[in-house]
This record gives sequence, C-alpha cells and structure tokens, in this order.
Amino acid sequence: MRPNRGFFSWILQGRKWLLVAGILALATVASAAIIPNLFPFLDPSGLISSYNANGPIDEGTSNVFFQSLGSNGRSCGTCHLASDGFGLGVTSVREKFAATQGNDPLFASIDGANCPTGTSNDRASHSLLLRSGLIRIFLPVPANAQYQIQAERDPYGCAVVTDESTGVQTVSVYRRPLPTTNLRFLSSVMFDGRETIQPLTSAATFQQNLQTDLLQQAIDATLTHAQAAEPPTLAQQTAIVNFELGLNSAQSLDFRAGWLNFAGALGGPLNLSNQAYYPGTNDSLGADPEGNAFNSTAFTIFADWETSPDPMRRKIAAGEKLFNTRALTISNVRGLTDNAALAKALGTTVPIAPFAGTCTTCHDAPNVGNHSLPLALDIGTGHDPVAESDPLIANGLSQLSVPDLPVYRITGCPNPFQVPGQPVAPYVIFTTDPGKGLVSGLCSDMVRTKGPILRGLASRAPYFHNGAARDLNELLEFYNQRFQMNLTDEEKEQFSAFLNSL
Ligand code: HEC
Ligand code: HEC
Repeated sequence: MRPNRGFFSWILQGRKWLLVAGILALATVASAAIIPNLFPFLDPSGLISSYNANGPIDEGTSNVFFQSLGSNGRSCGTCHLASDGFGLGVTSVREKFAATQGNDPLFASIDGANCPTGTSNDRASHSLLLRSGLIRIFLPVPANAQYQIQAERDPYGCAVVTDESTGVQTVSVYRRPLPTTNLRFLSSVMFDGRETIQPLTSAATFQQNLQTDLLQQAIDATLTHAQAAEPPTLAQQTAIVNFELGLNSAQSLDFRAGWLNFAGALGGPLNLSNQAYYPGTNDSLGADPEGNAFNSTAFTIFADWETSPDPMRRKIAAGEKLFNTRALTISNVRGLTDNAALAKALGTTVPIAPFAGTCTTCHDAPNVGNHSLPLALDIGTGHDPVAESDPLIANGLSQLSVPDLPVYRITGCPNPFQVPGQPVAPYVIFTTDPGKGLVSGLCSDMVRTKGPILRGLASRAPYFHNGAARDLNELLEFYNQRFQMNLTDEEKEQFSAFLNSL
C-alpha cells in the first residue's frame, strides 16, 4: 500500500470496490432488521463491527433487547446502538432529533431531557443529550451518607430534589451510555459500580455473578429508562442478558491502514472474542490471583505492525507502544494516591507522592483496557473547572469541552490527601458527579468512577462519563496536561491512530 492516498483512491485500488458493493448489499439486508455477523458500520475513522457468538443480530422485536418493555416506547436498543458499538454516539443522537423533530422515544423527558419537568420536545430542554450525548441518572442520597450535599450551581432546576414527606434527596448526574458489548471483561457494572450487586473479582464465581448483576441491571434499566410499571419477566431478563453476553465489538477497518486483522494484526471483533480474561489478570497493583507480575505491555494487538512497510500501520503500532510504555506522572487521584493498601505495598504512607505510571497502570486488562479488578478512580474529569485548586487538573479540564452541568458542594468529608502534621483546613468538594460516593454514601468513594472498556471507541464519541472530551484529540490533550506527559505532535497522532483502531 502506498502512503498518502485518499480514501476513495484506496477503495478503487485492487478489488476493494467489492467491499463497497458488499456494504451496500448488506445495508439492504440490515434494513430488514437482521444484522449479519461482522456487518460493518461506518464511523469517522473506518468501520466498526460486532461478532455475535449466538448468530446474526436480530434487530427486530423478536429480540427482547429491541422490544419496548415499558410505557415510553424505548427499548435497550434506543440508547445502545449496533452502529455505535452498542454505545450511543452523539452524532446518532443529533440525527435522530433532526429526523423526528425530537419525537423519538430517546428524547423522553424522564432522562432524555435535562430535567423531567420539561415535556416539550425542544432543543433547549435536551441540550445535554444533544450537545454531549448525556442521559440523566437520578439517584437517592443514601440515608447513612457520611457527607452533606447541596447544589452549588443548578442550571436546569433539578440538581437536588427533596421529597417533602421522607426527606430523601434525589440527585441528578448526567452520564454517557456505556456499551452493552464485550461485557465478559467487566469488573464493575455502571460508571459507579451500582449494579455490581455480586462481585466480579474471582474466576470461580465470575460467570454466575456477572449473570446476576446483568439480570438486575436489565430490571432497573427497564423500570427507569423505559418507565415500566412492572419489571420484565425472568424470561425477558434472561433473553436480554444472553444477547448482551454474545456480543463482541471492535473497530474492524481503518480507512488508511486497511483491515485491522491483516498482516499479523489482531484487531477486530473476532480476535476479541478469543481474548483470554479472568478477574485480576495483569493487575497493575499486584493482585493477579495467578501470581503473575504486572506487565505494562497490556496491548499487543498491533505489535506485528511495528515493522510494517505501511506508514499508517506503523503509526498505529507506535501508538500501542506509547499506550503501554509512555511515562506519565500520577498525582492527586482518589482511589490511587489516597489508597492505604497501595501505600503499604509501596512501603510508604498516604498521601502517596506523585509516581510514574503508564496508561496501562489504570487500563490494565490485556487488549481490552478496563481495570481487571474493580478500581473506581477520580482522575479529575468530574471536578468543577471553576473551583479547581490543583493546577494540573485545572489545566487538563481547560482542554476539554466540559458541558454546563450542575455542580454539587459536598461537605463533612476529611481531605484524603491531608499530609499528617500539616494544619487541617476546612475541606469542601465541588463536583459535577459524586460517582461511587453517591451510591455507597462513603466519603472515601467520592467523585470516583470506573474506567470503561476501551474497544470500539471511534464509533461512540464523546468520551468520559460526562462526555467532556468531544473527541480523542481533546481526550489526549487532557491526559497530556493532567499527567504531565509533554507529548509531541507526532506522539499525539500515534496515540489517536491507535485509539481509533480499537
Ligand atoms: C435512555 C438511554 C438508555 C436506555 C434506554 C438503556 N440504557 Fe443502558 N445505559 C445507559 C446509560 C446512561 C448507562 C451508564 C449509566 C451509569 O453508569 O450510571 C448505561 C449502562 C448500561 C450497562 C452497563 C455497562 C457497563 O460497562 O457497566 C448495561 C449492561 C446496560 N446499560 C444495559 C441496558 C439494558 C439491558 C437496557 C434495556 C433494558 C438498557 N441498558 C437501556 C443508557 C440507557
Ligand atoms: C490514573 C488512572 C488512569 C490513567 C493513567 C489513564 N486513564 Fe484513561 N481513564 C481512567 C478513568 C478512571 C477513566 C474514566 C473517566 C471518566 O469517565 O470520567 C478513563 C477513561 C479513558 C477513556 C474514555 C473511555 C470512554 O469510553 O469514555 C479513554 C479513551 C482513555 N481513558 C484513554 C487513556 C489513555 C490514552 C491514557 C494514557 C495517555 C490513559 N487513559 C491513562 C483512568 C486512567
């Protein structure tokens, strides 16, 4: 392959027109509600496909995942699209709004609008969904919460709603739909882990516990998003979960590098379906149950392309190598530098001083990229840019397109980064999303969320739980500032070529 050829001249070379003809033919089939296995959907950098271990994907209503089980016409497939790697790209949201004048069930006011009170289908009351792909998640503050929470900024009027009879506060946070594919690599369900009702931490119980968690998740999703009066039947829940667990999704073609499973590369959903996994595999904090030491080279998909004659393939391989090895400085991360067990293992005390790591310190699951044990972290994405006092986090946030979200003022928690012997100042947390702390009620969980599985990224921008990174370039600029990476322009290109090929 020659460098610098445009996409269309590349398509016209050799027999690649067959590919285009094939896509058109398959598109016809897909409109009949059956998506053949590995059916390619276009995304900005290439094609994304899914491999369903249970056969072709039936997008019709005989598949419970695509059935309306509640009162507002929504199915799971309203927010988890095959074309978007079973996530929801904001481009798809905007297309749906334009095509239906905001009347698609996706825009139901319960959580598709900024606040549930807005009943009209106008753009303004759906600005967070249209701008950043965000769904409103509303959760009660636990009765035993160690902290007090109040709205510091409330741009839409439903940040904290207090039930007058019970006194229970309901808090609104705004989050991106997580993909319902590649689920057999999960160590925690939902950004805040609230559906991990049985732990995903041991190989012996993993299958059964994952099933239990996902069944409960299907019930809660139906009751909230679909506004069902009754939970789905066990048969319906089971059908949903069996469907989800058959799915493997990944980028399959890059416009410039070609098929991502050619010439020794191990990209694409079929290879992913053969990826080995067990809870704790390659744990970066030393808890691999098989006793294996952490290997920072967690991604090996494109290793064979390091010496490829094709410059784009070499670029993707170089990005993978950077992901595995490029030094960054980890500081001020709740869940890591305030982590007593980690401090003990390192022979130090909390707060742990800034230390060198890699992307794979946090994204350690081999060729998948979540954390292979539950590890909720606060890397700063949920901080309030206005109130931020750590200059590294403030600089990182300034690279992002942080949406106009409610900000919460949280008091009553000790400073987890308090240096022993130093004077104790009053401590207030300002955040757009208390994360796991909103579920457990614990100060130590405040503002912490999981890192998602990093496959199929190209099809589902924007990124981070609150959609603050409009694209992968913004995301990299965040990491560059936040973790003091001093990336060169060439390194940024390599990183983004790699992330787009996952
Ligand atoms: C209105 C949009 C919407 C609908 C409809 C919807 N989801 Fe989701 N889904 C989300 C959002 C948003 C999240 C992330 C929420 C969070 O982390 O707090 C999510 C997360 C998930 C996850 C967690 C994945 C992970 O990595 O932890 C699963 C599984 C899931 N949804 C399954 C379903 C199922 C099954 C249905 C149908 C019964 C469904 N969803 C319907 C928006 C939706
Ligand atoms: C200190 C831990 C840590 C390090 C180091 C780290 N990440 Fe992350 N990463 C996370 C967490 C936690 C999230 C989820 C944050 C959120 O959603 O707000 C995340 C989210 C992401 C996402 C977004 C996924 C999505 O679906 O929205 C990408 C992409 C990503 N990281 C890539 C990288 C790259 C590239 C590097 C190295 C330059 C890196 N990460 C280093 C913890 C880390």
